[in-house]
Amino acid sequence: MTIPTVTARATAPPGTISTGTASRLPDTRTAADTLAVDGATDATFRRARQMSERIEADLRVDPTAYRVVTGDRPTGDLHLGHYIGTLANRVRLQNAGVPVTVVIADYQVITDRERPGPLRDRVRALVADYLAAGLDPQRTAIFPHSAVPALNQLLLPFLSLVSVAELHRNPTVKAESLASRRTLSALMLTYPVHQAADILCCQGTLVPVGKDQLPHIELARVIARRFNDRYGTVFGEPEALLSSAPVVLGVDGAKMSKTRGNTILLGADEDQTTAAIRAARTDGLRRITFDPPARPSVANLLTIVGALSGREPARIADEIGDGGASVLKALAAEVINESLRGLRARRRELLADPGYLDEVLLDGTVRASVAAAETLERVRAAMGMDYFSG
Ligand code: TRP
Repeated sequence: MTIPTVTARATAPPGTISTGTASRLPDTRTAADTLAVDGATDATFRRARQMSERIEADLRVDPTAYRVVTGDRPTGDLHLGHYIGTLANRVRLQNAGVPVTVVIADYQVITDRERPGPLRDRVRALVADYLAAGLDPQRTAIFPHSAVPALNQLLLPFLSLVSVAELHRNPTVKAESLASRRTLSALMLTYPVHQAADILCCQGTLVPVGKDQLPHIELARVIARRFNDRYGTVFGEPEALLSSAPVVLGVDGAKMSKTRGNTILLGADEDQTTAAIRAARTDGLRRITFDPPARPSVANLLTIVGALSGREPARIADEIGDGGASVLKALAAEVINESLRGLRARRRELLADPGYLDEVLLDGTVRASVAAAETLERVRAAMGMDYFSG
């Protein structure tokens, strides 16, 4: 997940970086593992860009042409980067009539850390963020991975369809493993396979993601195709839907991320937001211009303001001109706080009613379980394991 902004350090999840406990796996990283890797090759990216445009056009004609499955790991609260980059997009698809399922990938929390953390609170907070942002539980099913056992049964046949070498080559696995600063566990190595199970158990055919996730989606396609070739067609091949939303940086100018502590949380209050923006990095130039390569941190604030107000960042820069960073920051804090005011109020109300959040989750789990059971039945039938039906 990519995004930028500023946030309280206290929100970095505990145990993010291993400090060497008894259960830690031995460190066997090799020099090759330390090569920096980007999430996807240019060719993959170009293909996904073109496909995404076609799919958006298809959806305008028939919003039910695809089933969207998306997900997040419950590793901490969502921030402005999530909102601009993905949440707003999910809400848009839902409101256009596209069937949407959101998996809260709780087992996958332990791909890059030892302990799952306070899952119950984090899962509720995630549901609150989703609903506050506009996901409608009547239309969109939200469920925790762990609550749908049929999902994990897909893993065994799926694992038989990929080689260990293929998994080692996956650039996103490499990048995530490196970022975790831990030895590559078998769970991390097989991340694309369980992510394929998340998607395919609900018959997902469209996965809105950022560029870093493209290799995972590509492998989900490969798994679906190989399964179909071997056993007969059960799965559609899922496509990535690349967001056209800009990438938001953190307040320190690096990629916005929970673990960096540079985010602006959706749940932060207005004073915290203003303080974080005031402390955000800018550069020494007085005149504000929109020049992302040369002035990334200034461009980032302009991008955020632009995304939230539906305006061109370059025009906003022109208007501020010689007003300098202080005017830009005051504007950014105001626009963020105004844009999130309704969401934050709803979020507070929702968090005060955990019983309701649990109901939403249970309802989503029931719906996902029905879909996953159906899928599993078809998988077993295709493989000749339908011993008890007929
Ligand atoms: N890997 C995704 C991420 O890091 C999270 C995720 C887990 C996911 N399961 C998924 C995304 C299924 C889409 C579909 O952001």
